Amino acid sequence: MGQSALFVLNSALMFSFCLMMSSAGPKKCTEWEAELATKLAASADITPFLSANTDKLPSLSESCVKTFSNTTNKANLMKLMAELDKVYDILDAGSRHAVFLWIEQLNPKPANGSSWMTVEQLALLDRFLLQAPLSSLKTLADMESSPLCAFFNSSNELWRSLYDLNPAQANVFFTGLKKCSIDVAKAANIAKLGQLACLYPVDANLLEDSSRNKLLELLKNCKGDVKNVYQKLTKSMNVMSFNSSQLGELGDAAAGLGMKQLASLSKEAVVGSLSTLSKIEGFSKSQKEALLKAAGVADIFLKTKSADEALSILPPALITEMTTKKLQEASALSTELLGKMPWNKGQALVVMAKAFSNLKTTEDFKSFKDVEAVPTTNCTFVVSVFAKAEHRLLGKSSKRREEVLNYIKTCMSFNSTDKLTANQVNQLGNVLCMFGPAEIDKLSNSNLKEAVDQLRGCGKFEGDVKASLRTKIIDTYGAFETWTFDTVNELQTLASLFNESEINKLSASVDLKETLKSILSHVKEPEGFVPADVNFTPDVTSLKSSFGKIVINLFFKVSRRKRALTCSGITIPTKDLILELGSSSSALTVDQLGCLSNDTFKETVDILGDITAFPMEKLTALKTVALMAYPTPTNNDIAGLKRITVAFTAAEINTYFATPNIDALAAIGKYQDWSSDATVAATAKQIVENFLKSNASNTLLSKDLLALGYLLCAFTPEQIAAVSAAEYSSAASNIGKLKCSLPVLTALKNKAVEAFGAPSAWTTVQMQDIGTLTAALTSAEFSAISKEKMSYITPEAVSLIPPAVFQTLTIDQLRFLGTENLAAVSSQQKASLDTTKALALNENSGATVTPTSAPLTSASASLACESPLAAAIALALTLLALSH
Ligand SMILES: *[C@@H]1O[C@H](CO)[C@@H](O)[C@H](O)[C@H]1NC(C)=O
Ligand SMILES: *[C@@H]1O[C@H](CO)[C@@H](O)[C@H](O)[C@H]1NC(C)=O
Ligand SMILES: *[C@@H]1O[C@H](CO)[C@@H](O)[C@H](O)[C@H]1NC(C)=O
Ligand SMILES: *[C@@H]1O[C@H](CO)[C@@H](O)[C@H](O)[C@H]1NC(C)=O
Ligand SMILES: *[C@@H]1O[C@H](CO)[C@@H](O)[C@H](O)[C@H]1NC(C)=O
Ligand SMILES: *[C@@H]1O[C@H](CO)[C@@H](O)[C@H](O)[C@H]1NC(C)=O
Ligand SMILES: *[C@@H]1O[C@H](CO)[C@@H](O)[C@H](O)[C@H]1NC(C)=O
Ligand SMILES: *[C@@H]1O[C@H](CO)[C@@H](O)[C@H](O)[C@H]1NC(C)=O
Ligand SMILES: *[C@@H]1O[C@H](CO)[C@@H](O)[C@H](O)[C@H]1NC(C)=O
Repeated sequence: MGQSALFVLNSALMFSFCLMMSSAGPKKCTEWEAELATKLAASADITPFLSANTDKLPSLSESCVKTFSNTTNKANLMKLMAELDKVYDILDAGSRHAVFLWIEQLNPKPANGSSWMTVEQLALLDRFLLQAPLSSLKTLADMESSPLCAFFNSSNELWRSLYDLNPAQANVFFTGLKKCSIDVAKAANIAKLGQLACLYPVDANLLEDSSRNKLLELLKNCKGDVKNVYQKLTKSMNVMSFNSSQLGELGDAAAGLGMKQLASLSKEAVVGSLSTLSKIEGFSKSQKEALLKAAGVADIFLKTKSADEALSILPPALITEMTTKKLQEASALSTELLGKMPWNKGQALVVMAKAFSNLKTTEDFKSFKDVEAVPTTNCTFVVSVFAKAEHRLLGKSSKRREEVLNYIKTCMSFNSTDKLTANQVNQLGNVLCMFGPAEIDKLSNSNLKEAVDQLRGCGKFEGDVKASLRTKIIDTYGAFETWTFDTVNELQTLASLFNESEINKLSASVDLKETLKSILSHVKEPEGFVPADVNFTPDVTSLKSSFGKIVINLFFKVSRRKRALTCSGITIPTKDLILELGSSSSALTVDQLGCLSNDTFKETVDILGDITAFPMEKLTALKTVALMAYPTPTNNDIAGLKRITVAFTAAEINTYFATPNIDALAAIGKYQDWSSDATVAATAKQIVENFLKSNASNTLLSKDLLALGYLLCAFTPEQIAAVSAAEYSSAASNIGKLKCSLPVLTALKNKAVEAFGAPSAWTTVQMQDIGTLTAALTSAEFSAISKEKMSYITPEAVSLIPPAVFQTLTIDQLRFLGTENLAAVSSQQKASLDTTKALALNENSGATVTPTSAPLTSASASLACESPLAAAIALALTLLALSH
């Protein structure tokens, strides 16, 4: 692929690396910095100096800014700030913050409690405004006729470039603007919002068409995820009557359309606007399914057009719905395509095999021997690649984490992190996510602050690293009793390292509530099965509980509501409370849920029906309310209840859901609860029985099988036996993700044999699709699977193999199981193995690299020069293969 492009990037990165390294040193200011500091203290015009040193400004250090004069004249100050503003993005975090503190220090704080930030200072600060603590911004926004408003009226330049704006800051600005009666629902004001638009607090009903269109236009400039803005914006749109050009005009906003809206789109509108939809990346899996269903896109393109044509026309989001079989027919698959698509592993295998014809297995990419052999003089590029590489592709237990870290330590010549400079910390980028307890322990407090930006993006910390990081954070930010919401805002998901009783010690306030809300809104649970070893989603349980508690307490403090007779003594939750709580509604008690009014329930069932954290007793309370709100529920009503339906008894199913249609089943089938416990499974069986009364198993099409989701796990082996093998094979990759009980998996496996032949003949690609069904193979069937194919069993499947069967795998089979499958092996499965087999299994934990002792010849050195590229590509590809 673009090797030359990477080399260009290589030299550019090395150049900037050298630039940044040059400013690192024991002294506070380097030579040119010292000269700058001197000039700032004097009165002569600074312009000639600035023009002679433009290229050096990006390396301005924090330590030197701290020495800047308190008596700088206004003209010079404005000139310097104008130049610094241009390089804001490349300054390091410490320097940015220091510049803000310097400006703050130049301005005496008014004794009357108002902000020192006047319109003039706001203009001077420009992008450095975002370095202000949230509390200072609030002081500014809370003022009577805040300078914020006059500034907003006078300029729209600033807001356009606030790329690093965070939700809590945006919220403060919006509150300030509202306070001085600037109506941000007006198109003329929306036009001025710039990056503020990306965090727009939409109340869609209040927006006129012109305002909405203006906002949609601005949202195109956002770098972050604006899907939830889109969702709110498109909520009230009647898309049913949309033609293709109207749908096309929605652009990225289409990713905000709800399931019902997508399902109501006309086939012509979707097909006609594919070229626009093809640029949208934000669709979720369920949205894709709804879209496919609405448009019959799968039918039209995947049945009638060639794979190549489909690839060139279909949106990337929909291409990933292509079956591996179809993909295999495609003649040309560019490597460019390879990097773009959110392929699942089976698809990635096909694409990789096509793009790299000499590639046999993903294991080929798993050696870092070459990287270790790269001479350190050539390693800056590798560091820059790793700094950007997605660390999540390496399992937490992978030995390669240590190898990469050791390599980088050698390359950057540090054997202990207490020697790191702030610049080096920034240089490390994602490598910080691979730090172990020893590296974290030795970081200086100021380097931790420098690293926090990066660390909060690492995802999850566990065990010793978590303990070290907690200690280091307390060292740096003080005991949590002293934290303000500003501290929490700075830590973001790192605050989740502290448990609920700790977080509850923070003083509860509206500000803390808003801060937690914005943190939680940015954490997305992964879809589907993710083995613990590669699950990097931060565990925000403690933040969620604290948030729920604060919301409920604040709410009930101010509300004096009428109490229904049967619910005396209970403060009844309202629609607004539930909207605010969102998925934290799980913090409501059984009594509170049971006392919801019919109207509140109907208005919030969308939220309540989709909360996976509700235990059965709360679901049961909600079911009781549901049956009051809908005394004779229709299929649509049931579909709307979603997960609440798992609380129905089998008898209630017969009373209220006697004639289910496939759409209602599709809405409730995605919950794994259906196959989790005996009572719920009995309810599921009743639902399936009622459905099959009018739709026999043998009439079900692949899309029906797909829609059934976990309800398919409630089929009897006989009912599964009657399903058409051809229809099964078209839905195989979705069915292969279900974790059904073993008897059902066995029946489904027999269907797979009918469709694809004997297990010994399954191709690696088919094995990816067959997925969990593989877990139902007998010992005899497993013995016929060649060892080379073992790493293609999916991790979900591995986790489901009964220990009694698992222990019969051969030593070679275990040895070839693969790193990610090792992560999925349960402790019972491990315990079933004898010592030899246990050792064979452990070989998957990552090859240990033997250091190369032979001196590098020039030939091998030049070979090694190319290996960073190989490593970078390997990293990217392994990521693709692992990420789904
Ligand atoms: C500027 O003033 C602050 C306090 O007002 C003081 O801490 C700092 O040392 C002063 N800086 C210089 C360079 O004099
Ligand atoms: C607060 O004091 C500053 C000067 O110190 C003055 O400009 C401002 O008008 C005062 N604000 C109020 C609300 O009194
Ligand atoms: C800003 O402009 C609006 C009109 O859009 C005006 O009503 C308001 O008074 C102005 N505010 C300030 C502080 O200039
Ligand atoms: C789509 O509908 C809009 C509004 O009804 C109309 O102005 C436009 O001409 C239609 N476009 C097409 C291609 O039918
Ligand atoms: C690798 O290092 C050698 C000498 O140390 C140097 O001559 C060569 O240009 C470097 N190669 C790259 C790609 O940086
Ligand atoms: C780190 O390197 C220094 C010299 O560069 C050496 O004296 C020291 O022992 C090393 N420390 C460790 C832990 O390897
Ligand atoms: C929270 O963490 C602290 C400190 O590790 C510990 O003492 C306390 O028991 C924990 N509380 C809970 C409820 O887990
Ligand atoms: C809910 O509606 C039902 C009738 O559909 C009614 O009997 C019941 O009293 C209502 N419950 C509440 C709390 O309003
Ligand atoms: C199920 O049967 C009903 C009644 O015969 C029919 O209208 C419906 O289309 C069938 N649904 C499926 C998914 O086959």
